[in-house]
Order: sequence, then structure tokens, then C-alpha cells
Amino acid sequence: MALYSEKVMDHFRNPRNVGVIEDANGIGEVGNAKCGDIMKMYLKIEDGIIVDVKFETFGCGSAIASSSMATELIKGKPVEEAMQLTNKAVAEALDGLPAYKMHCSVLAEEAIQSALNDYYSKLPKEDAEVQE
Ligand code: FES
Repeated sequence: MALYSEKVMDHFRNPRNVGVIEDANGIGEVGNAKCGDIMKMYLKIEDGIIVDVKFETFGCGSAIASSSMATELIKGKPVEEAMQLTNKAVAEALDGLPAYKMHCSVLAEEAIQSALNDYYSKLPKEDAEVQE
């Protein structure tokens, strides 16, 4: 069996949603201290829906594939749903990652959480309370 699934290779070679959103209202950046990889996630949220998402990842192939798949999974979804996205779901959507590469998918989960937290922190207080 190949080490990486076809989906991992596809998202690594042709990552979706790469780039920056200039007027993003949620931005998150996380890194893995061990490997030094960094992932930055930009969210454009309107009426509680993620209308656009882009990422920049300086990291391994699995981290790039994970960020690409994660953006596909949350695009067009309500923020509450994106909040529930786990690294396991990202890895499953990629038809699996080698066990020692699972931590790469954790970066995608954390980057999205961090961007959503940034979005929530910027909301006017009453709106934040409604969405909690
Ligand atoms: Fe660091 Fe993959 S090796 S995120």
C-alpha cells in the first residue's frame, strides 16, 4: 500500500484555497514546535457562515494536504459546524494519514479554532454571547 492516499497526494499537489483574504474577519496562526511547521488560516464570515477561507502553510506535504482539505470541509458551513471540525475528520476525509503524520492534521484543526476564536473575540459583546 502506498504511504499516502491519492487524496493526500492530490491535495498536496493541487492545494485548494491557498492564499490570503485581505478583509478576513478571523485569522489564526499556529505552529508545531517540534517540526517547525506553521499554518495560517483566514476566514471571511458573514451572518455566521464561512463564505470564504484561505490558508498559507509552511510545512510538510501532510500539513499542506490537511489544510487544503480542512478549508474544503468548512467552506460554506456555519461557524458552529466549523468549530466541531476535528483533525480526525480531516484525516478521514483524506482517506487516512500515516500514524506518525497525524500531528500534521492537528495543525489544521488548531488553525481553524484559532481563526474562529479571533472572529469571536472581535464580535460586539452581545453578539458573542448569542453565538456561544
Ligand atoms: Fe510538521 Fe507535518 S511534519 S506538520
